[in-house]
Amino acid sequence: MGKVFHAVPVLPSTQDELRRLAEAGAPEGAVVVADHQTEGRGRQGRSWVDQPGANLLVSLLLRPKIPVAQVPQLSLLTAVAAQEALAASTGLQIEIRWPNDLEIRRLKVAGILAEASSVGGRVSLVILGIGINVNQTHFPDLPRKATSLALEAGRMLDREALLERLLDALNRWYTRYLRQGFLPVREAWLRTARGLGGPIRQGSVTGRAEDLDSDGALVVRTAEGQVIRLVAGELG
Ligand code: BTN
Repeated sequence: MGKVFHAVPVLPSTQDELRRLAEAGAPEGAVVVADHQTEGRGRQGRSWVDQPGANLLVSLLLRPKIPVAQVPQLSLLTAVAAQEALAASTGLQIEIRWPNDLEIRRLKVAGILAEASSVGGRVSLVILGIGINVNQTHFPDLPRKATSLALEAGRMLDREALLERLLDALNRWYTRYLRQGFLPVREAWLRTARGLGGPIRQGSVTGRAEDLDSDGALVVRTAEGQVIRLVAGELG
């Protein structure tokens, strides 16, 4: 991971820059980071706003030989790797919230966006976007919803050292995934996820989250008593 590495001061979005490089033949593991994004995007059409120079804004290219339906597993894997790297670097208690937000004291500290392309049902590329609030001190658009590692740790953090740990954790988890499949990721996700057994609302569904299925879907018992599976992911 990161053998091909592009660090750019300002970009509209690291996702688009990496897609451009991927389409020009960039190899698996290629990484783009920016100090600031002018059109950063999050899941479900939301925007991702950052304080220039304060955070980690990372996109990572994977070219796994998996069916499209398994792409959400890579988002869950990224959450597990990021949780591990950030917790180890800071000593903070960081929880995963379905599907792949990272939270401290129920405040969002990092988000993950997986964007995939496919040919004939098989994945041709996955761009994993990771936004981590590292040294940002104010969240005027998200009062009482977001926090940063620095606010929680009470000290500024070295972004490069964090990025190194993050790429190392992603490398280990991805290698494990390719060798052993999703089950080790599932176990780690279940150990660090908050809210299983608790209420969940997603779109029109309300219910109780009961489990993470062996393929990465969240098993939810709806208010009407039906058991359904929720899958997270976006396909571009
Ligand atoms: C979310 O929680 O909604 C996902 C946020 C993902 C943000 C990252 S920052 C780096 C990469 N570039 C983007 O435009 N988005 C992702």
